[in-house]
Amino acid sequence: MTSDTEKNKVKNAMQPEDSLELKALYKAFENESLMPLWTQIDDLMPIHPKPKAVPHVWKWSKLLPLAEQAGKLIPVGRGGERRAIGLANPGLDGKAYISPTLWAAIQYLGPRETAPEHRHSQNAFRFVVEGEGVWTVVNGDPVRMSRGDLLLTPGWSFHGHHNDTDEPMAWIDGLDIPFTQQMDVGFFEFGSERVTDYATPDYSRSERLWGHAGLRPLSQLQNMPASPLGAYRWEHTDRALTEQLLLEDEGQPATTAQGHAAIRYVNPTTGEDVMPTIRCEFHRLRVGTETIQRQDVGSTVFQVFDGRGAVVLNGITHKLEKGDMFVAPSWLPWYLQADTQLDLFRFSDAPIMERLKFMRSKLEE
Ligand SMILES: [Fe+2]
Repeated sequence: MTSDTEKNKVKNAMQPEDSLELKALYKAFENESLMPLWTQIDDLMPIHPKPKAVPHVWKWSKLLPLAEQAGKLIPVGRGGERRAIGLANPGLDGKAYISPTLWAAIQYLGPRETAPEHRHSQNAFRFVVEGEGVWTVVNGDPVRMSRGDLLLTPGWSFHGHHNDTDEPMAWIDGLDIPFTQQMDVGFFEFGSERVTDYATPDYSRSERLWGHAGLRPLSQLQNMPASPLGAYRWEHTDRALTEQLLLEDEGQPATTAQGHAAIRYVNPTTGEDVMPTIRCEFHRLRVGTETIQRQDVGSTVFQVFDGRGAVVLNGITHKLEKGDMFVAPSWLPWYLQADTQLDLFRFSDAPIMERLKFMRSKLEE
């Protein structure tokens, strides 16, 4: 494959000396809303992905106090809909996009508050790094939100949230908003001003039906594009990771690499990703583990759930602690180091890249 430097050395045979006729031709192009390929091919077809998005780390110690301050100053309700603060990638021109495809935000709900119901084409999830006491009501099904849980709101599901306690709660939202905005595929509809069901069950109806590993209800044999399971509970995730490391101790194949346990959350009807556009995973590194460096097409976001360590993004080391979030844009090299046992939640746009056959990966030898 031609390297960057080799391509830069290739003289563009289609850049003749400036002349009055040439200037007139380019002006005529402009007047007719035309643009030549030959002056911009390096931008349009780079040798490898050259994202405008940059690698970046957001510290939980900064995010949470700002969300709390927003809680004091901004009421939540119809119109703005959510007290959600988007993580804006510094390379993306001031847009609240963490990458060209993904949105990530910290959302904050004060004591006894309700975020009204609505629905949209965009797929969404919540992940809880601390706190409890909020129920998200998805298509009328109240789903408890607790530390370590992944909660799903697939596209076009009605959803609202309510805080049943006297304590505030914050969590992260992940959506495919940038992708849907750039593709112009989004629809939106308001629902109930209050959530349709204020019940606070420990387990949602979706979990009672679908939340038994390996067991499919015979009433539900039709596959679905998004997971019908509304909540992936921490107790299951933690146990799966713990068992992988125990199996590794016993010399059994279980981990993705030495000292690196990992799971992907899946749609129980297909075994594929939980939603059509977003992949969710959880990774656990033993103390002292360093992952191999990798590059992948598409963008990925991590949040530290527990422990301390570092991520090396394009050769630059960033220390990480609980709640910190970072993004690795497309094809950017990254690897992780665990100073303690390090637990990380991860999401990415990999389902889009794989389905459209753009996915490529490069692993360090
Ligand atoms: Fe929403």
